[in-house]
Amino acid sequence: MALRKLLYVGDETLRKVSRPVDVLNKRMIMLLDDLAETMYAENGVGLAAPQVGVLRRAIVIDMGDDTGLIQMVNPEIVSSEGEQETVEGCLSIPGRSGYVVRPQRLVVRGINRGGKPVEMEAEGALAVAFCHEIDHLNGALFIDSMTREASDEEDNEKDGA
Ligand code: NI
Repeated sequence: MALRKLLYVGDETLRKVSRPVDVLNKRMIMLLDDLAETMYAENGVGLAAPQVGVLRRAIVIDMGDDTGLIQMVNPEIVSSEGEQETVEGCLSIPGRSGYVVRPQRLVVRGINRGGKPVEMEAEGALAVAFCHEIDHLNGALFIDSMTREASDEEDNEKDGA
């Protein structure tokens, strides 16, 4: 495993649409592991491949709870319900955070690190994380949809992703 270099807002790569992963080969598994290592090193709760300059549909999430590390390629939201507005931050946008409205609950499908199709229910902060990371795969950043900036105090509560 290795740390990858993060890209920051202003880099055009972050605005591109990532391609699906056709085959979960060694190289893709290494990418998933590098994403996890980089996320942990940056104290983030999520990271998407375009943030390290790879335009492939691969994400990692770890909310620091019992769910543990999620490594997924080709994630897709198949259903969602409810609404929540929470403060988001992004490892690619240091020093900024803001309120974004997301679904409260969703079902995500994808392929896990073992190459197995998986379906997950996500609620609350985990649902936010999936939306945030899948946005990255479509070239979208939280600042595009944020309703307002968060204050410094509120900022203390958020994690980058
Ligand atoms: Ni992000």
